[in-house]
Amino acid sequence: MASKEKKRREKKDAGADRRDFLANAVMGTGLVASHAFAAVLGVRYLYPTRNDRTQRLFVGLRSEIPPGTGIAYEAPGGRTINVIRGQKGFIALSDVCPHLGCRVHFESQTGEFICPCHDGRFDGNGSPLSGPPAEMGAALPRYEVVTDGDMIFLEMSVEVG
Ligand code: FES
Repeated sequence: MASKEKKRREKKDAGADRRDFLANAVMGTGLVASHAFAAVLGVRYLYPTRNDRTQRLFVGLRSEIPPGTGIAYEAPGGRTINVIRGQKGFIALSDVCPHLGCRVHFESQTGEFICPCHDGRFDGNGSPLSGPPAEMGAALPRYEVVTDGDMIFLEMSVEVG
């Protein structure tokens, strides 16, 4: 009788040990995971990823853009950038008017950018000449142009991570 009771207790204790072991294992795993997550956040805080990387984008060939003309370049992300060949080289300007965001176009006869929405006008460098952009003193956003032989590139910042 006593040995039966002893076996029952041993069996019960073994079950309790297994439950304790599983509970400790789950808690230990959770603790390790939370410490690892905190460590990752700490490293990212100390060494943040850069969001301002620049990318060189091929636009076209210099020989294909005669002086006084330009092309509308579709950049990744949907932006259109007017790349114009002027007297002093290439210039790249956003086609988004700084007034209310209408799209400007280049007129090669006058060398000006025209915004059709409120008759905003910009010179060949994107500086405002008349209309609401001139009243605001707002120029067209400009991008850096790099040439390498006959090739034309834009250097643009791209969002990373
Ligand atoms: S949106 Fe271009 S002038 Fe108003």
